[in-house]
Amino acid sequence: MLVTREIPDAGLRLLEDFDVSVLHERPPERGELVEAVGGASGILSTATEKIDGEVMDAAGEGLKVVANMAVGYDNIDVGAAWERGVVVTNTPGVLDETTADVAFMLMLAAARRLGEGERLLRAGRWEWWGPKQLRGVDVWGKKLGIVGMGRIGLAVARRARGFGMEILYYNRSRREDAESELGARYLGLGELLGESDFVSIHTPLTPETRHLVGAEELERMKPEAVLVNSSRGPVVDEGSLAEALENGSIFAAGLDVYEEEPDVHPKLLELENVVLAPHIGSASVETRDRMATLAAENLRAVLRGEEPKTPVEL
Ligand code: GLV
Repeated sequence: MLVTREIPDAGLRLLEDFDVSVLHERPPERGELVEAVGGASGILSTATEKIDGEVMDAAGEGLKVVANMAVGYDNIDVGAAWERGVVVTNTPGVLDETTADVAFMLMLAAARRLGEGERLLRAGRWEWWGPKQLRGVDVWGKKLGIVGMGRIGLAVARRARGFGMEILYYNRSRREDAESELGARYLGLGELLGESDFVSIHTPLTPETRHLVGAEELERMKPEAVLVNSSRGPVVDEGSLAEALENGSIFAAGLDVYEEEPDVHPKLLELENVVLAPHIGSASVETRDRMATLAAENLRAVLRGEEPKTPVEL
């Protein structure tokens, strides 16, 4: 089997009975991946590898499973896997709280101008405490709009309740649990954008959610609002976001994901009112161990002819 990146030992240990080839820490080049996958019965991939029909065919007919070490699986052609009888699995449920922490961190950092303040201080340009210096916007007591009320959206909403925030949400379907537990109010996307002080995105990337937030949606937001994206970069039109931040049509943004990772829109790199994290939503020691473990358990189960814990349904 092929493990496309160096993953935590917690996962590798579970694969000791198999013939495992592990590539390296950096993402493999496409050609390298296609070559390395030859003859693999299973692939343990991460979100940086595109696993499509070509890769599956390069693995050959013995390929039984692609176990993605991520909750998102937009990097995998699930239809192509289904046609070839290949099981696809992901790692839901083990990273919700850790990713919600990062979403909340970005909300706080963007609202309170942490990145800008730290840059000022580190550059030796912080000369005095100032009554009008680095004033941000309050987070506590504000309205938080959650786009995509799944497990991660819910975990963010629970944190927000501790900050006395009112919760609005937009989702494909109503979430009665969020409504009764958190008093969350269901709104259409346009209304949610217009009412929220903070908007946090937690949808998977699908053809329907690509550029879900573009120029028109950003225009609906309040000038003092903050947008946070810790889902997948292409859910937001980065160019339009950069413009909205530059012309002050929203106050700030916090991003953990980008349209063309690891590239970031050049304008975003120059703006002070955006906090930029390098896709670290699930990057805690504990959670990466849990993700590697679950991915390896899924892979092992399919190769032993058992049911995987968390299969992706087509
Ligand atoms: C990470 O981005 C994941 O989808 O788990």
